[in-house]
Amino acid sequence: MSLDTELLASSFAQIRDRSTEFTDYFYSTLFADYPQVQPLFANTPMQSQAKKLFASLVLVVENLTNPDQLGDALTGLGARHVQYGILPEHYPMVGNTLLKTFAYLLQERWTPELEASWTNAYGAVTELMLAGANYSPEVLQLQS
Ligand code: HEM
Repeated sequence: MSLDTELLASSFAQIRDRSTEFTDYFYSTLFADYPQVQPLFANTPMQSQAKKLFASLVLVVENLTNPDQLGDALTGLGARHVQYGILPEHYPMVGNTLLKTFAYLLQERWTPELEASWTNAYGAVTELMLAGANYSPEVLQLQS
């Protein structure tokens, strides 16, 4: 992964202590922009889900310089998402919402350079998660 690790880490440091604000905005925006994904969370306890999502962002940022460990964690996470009924087409929805959330929290500190770095990082995370996911035709059929 060739990522701008310093820029990612320094921007994340600015929201590290605002996890509730981050996840409240993230999920309300995700469900407003993409109502079709809300049913996927129908049986999910949202408070603990929000904590897990934020913890996984912390894990990503803390392990940017440790790609092997990060890769294992993310392929495993991607494999579990198949079980949750998540499809590859859902990943850009979460990606767009994450960027919107950063922009909202960082306001004027959210620059085009940061947007490019986070877009790139989310692309790398998605690639690793999907590498761990089995979307064979049989799996897709089971879900339909
Ligand atoms: C960067 C991408 C993503 C990250 C880092 C992430 C992170 C997580 C984490 C940490 C969990 C907790 C359960 C576990 O560890 O297996 C989780 C669960 C879940 N994620 Fe994601 N996720 C991502 C993408 C997505 C996408 C694209 C969707 C679809 C809209 C989604 C929907 C869900 C759902 C529905 C659950 C809850 C499953 C349950 O009820 O237990 N996630 N996610």
